[in-house]
Amino acid sequence: MVHHYHDRMTDAPMSGCQDLLVAIDGPVASGKTAVGEALSRRFGWRLFDTGIMYRAATWQAQRRAVHLDEHETVADLIRASEFRLVPCSDRNSTGLDVYVDGHDATPHLRESAVESGVPTVAAIAEVRALMVEIQQREAARGCMIVVGRDIGTVVLPHAPVKIFLDASEQVRAQRRAAEQAEQSDGVDEESVLVATRRRDARDRSRRTSPLVVASDAITLDTSELTLDESIDLAEQIVRQRIPELSLSGDAVPPAGS
Ligand code: DC
Repeated sequence: MVHHYHDRMTDAPMSGCQDLLVAIDGPVASGKTAVGEALSRRFGWRLFDTGIMYRAATWQAQRRAVHLDEHETVADLIRASEFRLVPCSDRNSTGLDVYVDGHDATPHLRESAVESGVPTVAAIAEVRALMVEIQQREAARGCMIVVGRDIGTVVLPHAPVKIFLDASEQVRAQRRAAEQAEQSDGVDEESVLVATRRRDARDRSRRTSPLVVASDAITLDTSELTLDESIDLAEQIVRQRIPELSLSGDAVPPAGS
């Protein structure tokens, strides 16, 4: 039986969905998004990559010309801004688009200014509190893979499944470099390793919600695994923790098929 938990036209959650949540946390380039995306397809769920919230907040501050180091001004602006999450306009995607004050922030989220500013914004405690509230409201719809850094610890401490994806620094830097090489020439692996190390240190030492493994999370080290192997293992973990899923045999065909 094919079992879609979301009505794909209206995206209205169906009954029994609320408790069906998978939290995936992990450091940069650990494969969180790729694994989360694949799982969301297999289960017919939505993918909520919470990094988009911090990126959208950064974009909003930058377009309003607020200096990111002025934490209170940034927090005031974010408090006064309206964030709206909607199913991705790309029908092939299981993800969400984010609107800020009615403007679609989605096309701007990977711009280099946002990329370099987002760690500063993500470290502001008031901004995090506001984002966490929105994330919890969105996740209450259920049938969702929620990906981030603090999902199992702060956003969804009661999620039935928590996976902490990890990989060695070296492997993550190699993956990052390969990703970047697809977009531009002359990527230097050593400098990617240094940047990865710097971002890790920042995420882990942040005063508010540092990247830590939830005590009830299952750590999946993907250093020696292919992406497909990581996805299969993550799926097994979810099916063990949420037995209803195994009964429904719910895999949905990949997008476009
Ligand atoms: O996963 P990402 O690269 O899109 O995340 C962007 C930034 O937001 C990164 O600095 C980590 C931060 N982040 C966070 O602090 N907490 C989350 N739940 C998600 C992302």
